[in-house]
Amino acid sequence: MTEQRSVPFFNYPYVFTSQEEAFTAIFQDVGRRGAFIAQQDLRDFESHLAAFTGARHALGFSNATDGLHIALRAAGIGPGDEVITVAHTAVATVAAIVLAGATPVLVDVDPATFTMIADAAAQAITSRTRAIIPVHLYGQPADLESLGALAAHHGRPARSSRRLGRAGPGHRHRRHVARHP
Ligand SMILES: Cc1ncc(COP(=O)(O)O)c(C=O)c1O
Repeated sequence: MTEQRSVPFFNYPYVFTSQEEAFTAIFQDVGRRGAFIAQQDLRDFESHLAAFTGARHALGFSNATDGLHIALRAAGIGPGDEVITVAHTAVATVAAIVLAGATPVLVDVDPATFTMIADAAAQAITSRTRAIIPVHLYGQPADLESLGALAAHHGRPARSSRRLGRAGPGHRHRRHVARHP
């Protein structure tokens, strides 16, 4: 009989124990100083992350749902606006769009990469579309080249990979491509 082994989808204990000493030292240091909210530790994290990713700014939030929600709000996205994202993602992606008051529009993922099909996003664009949130999944990045070209086609050329375009003349809305963590 063939041996059957169950492989956990995600191994939290391993993630913790593999660096337990380093994590514990940081918890103790931060805890003893009470440096939980908007302290130098957060500012250091933000500047290191910005340098590492090549972004001009990085902001730390309590969780990814809040980060996505605030990014949408900061882009002026709200009621009456549509945001395109993928059907195959954590509920948090759609929740962030709903929290901003906008309408999620779901498109399919490519079965080979599990990330957004750029053509599907193109077909979902309407006059109300304000942003596209592709999701990088299972270690595979979404096709930001095609999606960036799509944003540029509907607006101005890319200025950064996070905010990729603005709608053309006579169009009051901006379009954004936000990179998902
Ligand atoms: C793709 C994706 N986006 C957002 C989230 C939400 O992250 P958080 O739990 O930090 O709010 C998750 C969590 O699983 C996720 O997988």
